Amino acid sequence: MIDRIDLLKIKPENYKCENMGEIDDIINPFTELNSVDKTLINGLVLLYQPRKIVEIGISAGGSSIIILNAMKDITDAKLYSVDINANWYRNAEKNSGWAVNEYFPHLTDKWNLHIGVDYCEVAHEIGYGIDMLFIDSAHRHPIETINFLCAFPYLKENAVVIVHDTVLYASKLGFLNNCYASKYLTLSVTADKYEPYIDHAPFVSNITAFQINPHTTQYINNVFESLTLPWYGEISDELLNKYREFINRHYTKHLSCIFDKSMKFNALFENELNDIFKKGYVEN
Ligand SMILES: C[S@@+](CC[C@H](N)C(=O)[O-])C[C@H]1O[C@@H](n2cnc3c(N)ncnc32)[C@H](O)[C@@H]1O
Repeated sequence: MIDRIDLLKIKPENYKCENMGEIDDIINPFTELNSVDKTLINGLVLLYQPRKIVEIGISAGGSSIIILNAMKDITDAKLYSVDINANWYRNAEKNSGWAVNEYFPHLTDKWNLHIGVDYCEVAHEIGYGIDMLFIDSAHRHPIETINFLCAFPYLKENAVVIVHDTVLYASKLGFLNNCYASKYLTLSVTADKYEPYIDHAPFVSNITAFQINPHTTQYINNVFESLTLPWYGEISDELLNKYREFINRHYTKHLSCIFDKSMKFNALFENELNDIFKKGYVEN
């Protein structure tokens, strides 16, 4: 029986972090993870020994390197890393994930890279039996929630999900306004949850891990309902259609309807919503 994440006797962020010593200095210039994020991800991989890991949102590859290093001794383990941008979003002359090949080519035999695609497009190919999922993508609602909903049917029971940047919205940097996506997901999902406690900033961990259980399926409607919260950022019609098709294929009619209504609701958000509130209803 796999240990419940909220009842672990060992703090995962303190577990065997010495194995990161040699990689830390190399990844620090480009990774977007802080020291607690890195040791938590490393510790959870070492504690749970997942064989199939999916990562959504790669950037240069800092988190990929942490995961690949932690899983290097797990027999038959594989990391599937997915990023919607084929080119590194900080410098288009490089590919997403470039740092893995550049600095850690010896770790790439357990690595499967999918760039220039959304996870919904490769979910079937990557397949079932996911033990661990790491989400660190757009940070603007609804993307993290849709990432999770696209992976959820493929997760193993008791799978562990790690969501990064859960308090990014609190940043004072203007371009990070409206980054609520990770928080909405971690609040709306029913699961056993774990957040590292940080001495200098109690209650504001920027990373949350949760472990799914039978109640996650029972109350998955709450995750769908969170899609009615405002959406920020552009999603092309083409991608929206792919999400719709995916949701239709993998979820009940009732849940697909919530998805469709949320889409319509959000399309109205900017302009017509005040009129709708006056009328007191949202038309189908
Ligand atoms: C914050 S960075 C990831 C940082 C990386 N995990 C690390 O720890 O160094 C976010 C990444 O998510 C990608 N992204 C944005 N929207 C996405 C989506 N819908 N699906 C997959 N990746 C996405 C961006 O291209 C970017 O590379």
